[in-house]
Amino acid sequence: MENHEVIQMENMKGRGVMLFPLPFQGHLNPMFQLANTLHAKGFSITIIHTQFNSPNPSNYPHFRFCSIADGLSENQVVSSEIDDLIALVKILNSNCVTPFRDCLAKLLSSNVEDPIVCLVTDALWHFTQPVADGLKLPRIVLRTSNVFSFLVHKSLPSLHERGYLSVQDSQAENHVPEFSPLKFKDIHRVETSHLESVLQFSSIIIQEVKASSGLIFNSNEDLEQEALTKCSLDFPIPTFAIGPFHKYFPASSCSSLLPQDQSCISWLDKQAPNSVIYVSFGSLAAMNEADFLEVAWGLANSKQPFLWVVRPGLVHGSEWLELLPNGFLEMLGGRGNIVKWAPQQEVLAHPSTGGFWTHCGWNSSLESLCEGVPMICQPSFGDQKVNARYISHVWKVGVHLEFKIERGEIEKAIKRLMVDAEGQEMRDRVKLLKEKMNLCLNPGGSSYKSLDNLVTYMLSL
Ligand code: UDX
Repeated sequence: MENHEVIQMENMKGRGVMLFPLPFQGHLNPMFQLANTLHAKGFSITIIHTQFNSPNPSNYPHFRFCSIADGLSENQVVSSEIDDLIALVKILNSNCVTPFRDCLAKLLSSNVEDPIVCLVTDALWHFTQPVADGLKLPRIVLRTSNVFSFLVHKSLPSLHERGYLSVQDSQAENHVPEFSPLKFKDIHRVETSHLESVLQFSSIIIQEVKASSGLIFNSNEDLEQEALTKCSLDFPIPTFAIGPFHKYFPASSCSSLLPQDQSCISWLDKQAPNSVIYVSFGSLAAMNEADFLEVAWGLANSKQPFLWVVRPGLVHGSEWLELLPNGFLEMLGGRGNIVKWAPQQEVLAHPSTGGFWTHCGWNSSLESLCEGVPMICQPSFGDQKVNARYISHVWKVGVHLEFKIERGEIEKAIKRLMVDAEGQEMRDRVKLLKEKMNLCLNPGGSSYKSLDNLVTYMLSL
């Protein structure tokens, strides 16, 4: 430990931080990784959480937990459509105000010995800013997307004013002027009937981020220098890009809402190096039956070993694998393995994993970059489309599956990534990014310095 770190630890004895994650997998993982990182820096940690998608406190005996009522009913929590998800987050923002305020006030008054320096909440919990202001508690925001997609999000109202959110299909392939290399089809498309409501929700998030005391990203200068510079102009508040978070504390199983099937690791042990294509579309994206079957046949026809995560609920209206043709896996003679949920970070770090067919959620994208695994990008919604364009056209470490999901196209994409020289070039490039991602966490690296600055800043609040 360096000298200044010892001094910092001395100064902060008994300092507490409260964190409030949004209750979805892609938001819980980075918030818990951040909580562990702050704990290792000497802060005591209190997690405030909803009953919906509640984390398991017994996985974190070193944290204090406080559950609040979220007022959701059963049928409010099952959809995976983006507009429904936005509606759900809006309901949560409204239902949680009073329980959250009461919980916070109680925690603050009971913490005389162990003063709370600040509250860290997900950016989508916009209601927490006025609540924190009312209690004179500084709020720092965690935005779980990357910086570039946050800037796109911030610009939604102005993109709308210029008609960019409702361009004709004939213009979908054109580039968005100030967000090169994004195409119009990469920007969040909203049903006209929901447009006003989505824009209003977006604007309030941005307004409350601007009113906050700071902004944390699970990204870093080495990946997003230009976007960070632009962000500091758009958001003149202290900003800390300290990612990749999961590299500080690799175990994601603790914050996993579904049990991770470890059996796929021993299956991977039996496969040749770099031979397996790992397939997962994250925790929310869903597909229809026809696309599901195209994916299955594309994988089967590729002749490449594959590990496929079919999350219960991935296919609308289906339980799990009943839509697959009878004897599908047997026909492949052990070349294919399907699980409900995988230990993804371990899978990506496994030497047999040679490619990742992903929906490009930011956690998955970053986890893949950090293990030097090139990708096939098949985004569904929101920031995933922006990430996919970055992976394929800026970092050039992925094949973009842009058009209809069709078995022949899938087979070609897998061959490009896993067999052709083009895939090897992507693998070489992603290995360089992997090195950068490791170096930025070491003393002198961009995230290392930024984390130091964050701790110093929190202690000054
Ligand atoms: C959602 C949005 O889809 C995404 O665009 C946004 O950036 C974050 O919220 P999600 O679908 O959950 O994300 O994807 P992602 O961000 O990739 O997070 C998924 C997490 O679940 C990753 O940390 C991944 O390691 C983990 N995971 C995924 C598993 O542990 N096992 C699996 O089988 C699949």
